Amino acid sequence: MGGNNCKGLFSRSTSVVTLNKLPKTGKPDKYDYVEGTVCKESDIKENEMKHLSLGDDGGKILLIKQKGELHAIGTKCTHYGALLHTGALGDGQVRCPWHGACFNIKTGDIEDYPGLDSLPCFQVNVDDSGLVHVKARRRDLDIGKRMKKMYERDVNNNTTVVIVGGGPAGAVCAESLRQEGFTGNIVMVCKENTVPYDRVKVSKNFNFDIEKATLRPPSFYKEHNIEIKLSTEAIALDTNENVVQLSSNEKLTYDYLFISTGSKPRIPDIPGVHLSNIHVLRDYTDSHALNSKMSLDKHIVILGLGFVGMEAAASCVNKCASVTILGRGTVPLETVFGTEIGNTIKQVFEEQGVKFMFGRDIAQFIEKEDDKNTVGAVVLNDGEVLPADIVIIGIGSTFNTDWIKDSPIHMLADGSVKVDKYLKTNVANVYAGGDIAYAPLFGSDDMSAAVGHYSLAHYHGIQDTGNRTGLRFTGR
Ligand SMILES: Cc1cc2nc3c(=O)[nH]c(=O)nc-3n(C[C@H](O)[C@H](O)[C@H](O)COP(=O)(O)OP(=O)(O)OC[C@H]3O[C@@H](n4cnc5c(N)ncnc54)[C@H](O)[C@@H]3O)c2cc1C
Ligand code: FES
Repeated sequence: MGGNNCKGLFSRSTSVVTLNKLPKTGKPDKYDYVEGTVCKESDIKENEMKHLSLGDDGGKILLIKQKGELHAIGTKCTHYGALLHTGALGDGQVRCPWHGACFNIKTGDIEDYPGLDSLPCFQVNVDDSGLVHVKARRRDLDIGKRMKKMYERDVNNNTTVVIVGGGPAGAVCAESLRQEGFTGNIVMVCKENTVPYDRVKVSKNFNFDIEKATLRPPSFYKEHNIEIKLSTEAIALDTNENVVQLSSNEKLTYDYLFISTGSKPRIPDIPGVHLSNIHVLRDYTDSHALNSKMSLDKHIVILGLGFVGMEAAASCVNKCASVTILGRGTVPLETVFGTEIGNTIKQVFEEQGVKFMFGRDIAQFIEKEDDKNTVGAVVLNDGEVLPADIVIIGIGSTFNTDWIKDSPIHMLADGSVKVDKYLKTNVANVYAGGDIAYAPLFGSDDMSAAVGHYSLAHYHGIQDTGNRTGLRFTGR
């Protein structure tokens, strides 16, 4: 990893450190430091984390003691800013309490996801009287995060990596290639009309601002010579010629190919399912469409007791006339959390006015009387009819891999792609990651599975240490 190994960790200085109260000096960033005493060495115990002040301008550092050494890094998770001292300290890593990102306590490097940036890392020094001093670049203290070094494109390097799919797996692949020293050509093919963004928001906040939700701004890709083809779909793959055929009629020749095309919502084969106001949730356009239709007179019916259905219900509550969730099971989220927790969640939703109808399915969608193109009601499998101005379907997903089904790549019957622990498919120089990868799981005796998980998709994108020429994924 392109780490930022801090010097002076727990080194005992021979001279007494001068405590500088540095004003905002207007000095160039690289000379502008904040330095000060943060505590006594005896104030922090082994395996303890302390959130401490540095300097007079509100600077904060996270001081950690482990294996007798002191380390100082940024205080807030680079994903959505959780305070890391409230998280868990593992062996050499601190884990964020919110969504589980991990940071190396010695370097600040991000080592598990979500999030992309690393933490700044500060110099620590203990003087002869046992006082702990920390020195930090002011800019690092203020910003609180750090991008790993990105290598520049070398125009003489003609090796091309094509990444198909602009989700977290594809995004991390592109950026970690540059971080691990790959200077060749990187081309990302993205079906959506935007650079990669935080997809998990899609069901949690229908009104989210897509520009604020991108993992990196569009300028990032330009700056690092990562070519992005937006609104473009890969439609076929020729592994003999190493060519990806695009919907734009262009043919892309690759030396290495990373496929991370993710999942698509399962659509039930129910009469009337084509009517408008019947929605799935996968892309930001789905949430925005729902948001624009939501109003206090609308009856919402949601099919599915899983995450997407429940999150959609939470997003609709208080913005419509009624929310009814239908499902075949008897407890929401039971397969994930079990009966007891599932029932507790159900109770919380009911307290917010959400109605559950268990053991039910939709037999038919019926159009509105005055608009034959738009849903107006659903008929349940027991004949009951529910008014429905909007229907949201959240009954699982299948894989976006139809476009490679005529290739020799090994796939399972469900459309997932079989890969080894380095995410290699059976075809030379073709890799797959993210939702579609049927990959050995570390910590589960290498049992293979396709896991739809945001953090794991990031992890699949990451390149292994020291790789300078081709692709070598960490994989797990
Ligand atoms: C509504 C919703 C909420 C979620 N919430 C959570 C959550 O809270 N926590 C969690 O862990 N996980 C969550 N997930 C799952 C998580 O988002 C996925 O596991 C993760 O995004 C998968 O990443 P990926 O890179 O494999 O693919 P994706 O993020 O699916 O990205 C794949 C991209 O490739 C594009 N594409 C598809 N086919 C082609 C093609 N032929 N050519 C070019 N581009 C193509 C797709 O349009 C898409 O933009 C949620 C998913 C959804 C839909
Ligand atoms: S805020 Fe830390 S992982 Fe999300």
